[in-house]
Amino acid sequence: MKQTLIELLDTRVRAALAAAGCPDAPAVVAPAGRPEFGDYQANGVMGAAKARKMNPRQLAEQVVAVLDISDIASKVEIAGPGFINITLSPEYLASLATEALADVHLGVPQPVSQRVVIDYSGPNLAKEMHVGHLRSTIIGDALARVLRFLGHTVIAQNHVGDWGTQFGMLTAYLIEAEKDGGEAIALSDLEDFYRRAKQRFDEDEAFATTAREYVVKLQGGDTHVNALWQKFLDISLHHCEAVYERLGVALTRDDVRGESFYNNDLPVVVADLQAKGLAVESEGAQVVFLDEFKNKEGEAQAYIVRKQDGGYLYATSDLAAMRYRVGTLHADRILYVVDARQALHFQQLFTLSGKAGYAGEATKLEHVGFGVMLGDDGKPFKTRSGTTVKLVDLLQEAEERAFALVSEKNAEMPEAERKTISHAVGIGAVKYADLSKNRNSDYMFSWNSMLSFEGNTAPYLQYAYTRIQSVFRKVDVSDAQAKIVLQEPAERLLALELARFADAINAVSREAAPHFLCGYLYDLATHFMRFYEACPVLKSEGAVRDSRLRLCHLTANTLKTGLGLLGIETLDVM
Ligand code: ARG
Repeated sequence: MKQTLIELLDTRVRAALAAAGCPDAPAVVAPAGRPEFGDYQANGVMGAAKARKMNPRQLAEQVVAVLDISDIASKVEIAGPGFINITLSPEYLASLATEALADVHLGVPQPVSQRVVIDYSGPNLAKEMHVGHLRSTIIGDALARVLRFLGHTVIAQNHVGDWGTQFGMLTAYLIEAEKDGGEAIALSDLEDFYRRAKQRFDEDEAFATTAREYVVKLQGGDTHVNALWQKFLDISLHHCEAVYERLGVALTRDDVRGESFYNNDLPVVVADLQAKGLAVESEGAQVVFLDEFKNKEGEAQAYIVRKQDGGYLYATSDLAAMRYRVGTLHADRILYVVDARQALHFQQLFTLSGKAGYAGEATKLEHVGFGVMLGDDGKPFKTRSGTTVKLVDLLQEAEERAFALVSEKNAEMPEAERKTISHAVGIGAVKYADLSKNRNSDYMFSWNSMLSFEGNTAPYLQYAYTRIQSVFRKVDVSDAQAKIVLQEPAERLLALELARFADAINAVSREAAPHFLCGYLYDLATHFMRFYEACPVLKSEGAVRDSRLRLCHLTANTLKTGLGLLGIETLDVM
């Protein structure tokens, strides 16, 4: 099977280690830390030597003596106590670039295909989407795109919050609003609708009683209340869909499997947990005590699956969802793209699912957590008046700011064109700012840095792409089959960076972390700019020009594909 660069080097070095008497020793291949160390380093010799009480330098010499790598490397050196430094040959890098140009996957190997469930977005339909759901939506969408690109079957699951006591209150209020004939207006702003319903609930005892009755009716399957609830959900989902559309996120109604989807299964799950001796009664509730999770007193922590009043919880729906995803969707891997603050819930869910037999060893369960989005004051992102920021408003502002920037640069451009560009730049900037950070950390939301045309930002990368397109507009004839020849150091380094695309994609898939791709694209654009300064393209001639144009071409393809995998548009002109 075709391998990525790191995989190939790993195979070769491991074979040499084995031939030198260390059969199971890992090769530990990584990009070289400094240019003088070559392109890649294999650092496994030290560990292997230590385990066998050998002299590492001697072992390195033995390994290099049998290392079969001359077809791809031009130089292999031993450094320090036993590092093996490898420099790839220009011919090999040129052949990889040629292959990538002819491949729809740009040379990225397709692994064994898996069925991957990605649980992302998951807004609560009682309210409007807020910034926490923005992160889940953007990260989940990028992961879905990358995994599909690798040939996996991705099944998106939008686990929306569409159940619970608030919905009694909201449907009860919907009737009142409808009676007044103002329902359409009332629901144009969900946040406001919720606020007014809550106010009625708090102030009017009669209304509160009705709301409570509605919860019971809703759970009992009452047709009228259910129809109202459906209507409410429908309107709320419309709000989400407007956000998805603006973001370019392809979540549809078919992907919605909300909490309510599992209603009928909840008593079954609890009964099953009881039968397996996992759930026990505790103060009237049904509880699972997991030894793996101890509290400060050293007692097993309680995971409640049914409340005292017989109601079910978030945890219960997630257990039912687990059975569905493994049993019906046949997932090999399930990614939960959810706020890091829910980490304990997911650890408990995964552990219990294992014990109950809902998810076996064959299914890989991962909580893809993420930190909080912070305002420039370092506190959780809020409006100036301290309320949560509505996503529609945030995206609107992004496009407006981008429009001002684009207009500044291209005053004469027709307005419609400036609008198209500012949509791509504004939305791209918001997404990229999020995706380029290690998702585990909190990050500061800053309009100025995300919309900058310099640094690791979407506009910088989009601009790099546009710049290459402008080169192509000045070319009348070129040989699209020309041989790629890497003579100048800047050419070789650009080709090396291009060859690293597959490993970047692999890292995203393995770690469920899109920032690896962002970092890669930034490095690629930087190497391209260096190449472009050092090696004239349009002013060169003949075979050299054609070869350089092909490198430009592959760079443009890689930038466009890479940004596309992050859900970010590229433009020919901006
Ligand atoms: N609705 C939840 C929230 O807003 C997110 C759902 C995440 N998915 C899940 N299977 N629990 O926090």
